[in-house]
Amino acid sequence: MHVLHVVGARPNFMKVAPVHAAFRKRAGVRQSLVHTGQHYDANLSDIFFEQLQIPRPDVSLEVGSGSHAVQTAEVMIRFEKTILERKPDLVLVYGDVNSTVAATLVCAKMGTKIAHVEAGLRSYDRTMPEEINRLVTDQLADMLLIPSDEAVGNLLREGVAREKIYFVGNVMIDTLRTLLPQARMPEIPNLSDKFALVTLHRPSNVDDPATLKRILATLNTISDRLQIVFPVHPRTKARIESLGYHFEDSTRFFAIPPTGYLECLALQQRATVVITDSGGLQEETTALGVPCLTVRENTERPVTITHGTNTLVGTDMELLSYEVSQILAGHGKGGRIPPLWDGSASERIADVVLDTQAMPQRRAA
Ligand code: UD1
Repeated sequence: MHVLHVVGARPNFMKVAPVHAAFRKRAGVRQSLVHTGQHYDANLSDIFFEQLQIPRPDVSLEVGSGSHAVQTAEVMIRFEKTILERKPDLVLVYGDVNSTVAATLVCAKMGTKIAHVEAGLRSYDRTMPEEINRLVTDQLADMLLIPSDEAVGNLLREGVAREKIYFVGNVMIDTLRTLLPQARMPEIPNLSDKFALVTLHRPSNVDDPATLKRILATLNTISDRLQIVFPVHPRTKARIESLGYHFEDSTRFFAIPPTGYLECLALQQRATVVITDSGGLQEETTALGVPCLTVRENTERPVTITHGTNTLVGTDMELLSYEVSQILAGHGKGGRIPPLWDGSASERIADVVLDTQAMPQRRAA
């Protein structure tokens, strides 16, 4: 059987790593890895391949940045040729980035089977580009591999057949468990053992100058009470620079370049609190038991709230400040690990894919 994986952006890399490894252990499977090149900076892409020990891509589409339409279309045009040349039996797509939906559209039109890893998540907010990507991908995928059980209801409501849904668990946690022993702190002189890790890159937070200014002002105020480490995503960096804002050298507020995976894990593990709009960090903090304040009005990962350590603060900066005080006073939210976030999701994926290929009519999950 020939399985082809498609990845393109940073959050895809920690998902493909354990799934590729799980298929490597099984006999009779040939694998191809396609990197669309949606993310191309060394610190958003290459470092993850190295640290996560992902094999070099067999195909690099090198699409780069662009508007949503341009980026999606470029992936489609280039990926169609890949499918014609490689003729895989099944394509695995990951998460909710533009590369995910683009590859899915190509496969659906060419009659190539698609399995979606991390299917069924919904924020119910169609202003998020990722929500559009999730909706379309899940309508077209043949196998929906879900990380948490609320995804079943989301998919059934959209008319997805129950037979296509497989509750396999969260592959991000497979990677976290494997690599946690190797987590390493980046060198940040004068950083104490109490700090907040901050990451922000959602268009809803960084693209509107007024919103971005309010968030930065609040973070500055928080930094009087708690040191801040802020790895700055390129999109956010560009927006901050266009405000004419510059981070000053400070021993309270450390704006640093995006980190590798092992550094990000160590920062999360040691942080007093994580302040973020990332989906991945909401999950990782839940797995690590570290309080997370999410700067969004909604989340497609509600299990991190019901089971985990996550709290939504939206863009209410007073609430963000208040929640930080609560955590500093020792009232941070505790949590428990959601079902099937156990480090074996990728093994279940490999099993279910191979099983289903052998017995196409089988009903699972
Ligand atoms: C993308 C995903 C988002 C994910 C995020 C993680 C979509 C719609 N969005 O957002 O879901 O959470 O990745 O990082 O797929 N840029 C660089 N170097 C790069 C890549 C991008 O400098 O290697 C800059 C470019 O200015 C680019 C901008 O970042 O225009 C945005 O990149 P893009 O891939 O469009 O979206 P992200 O914001 O990274």
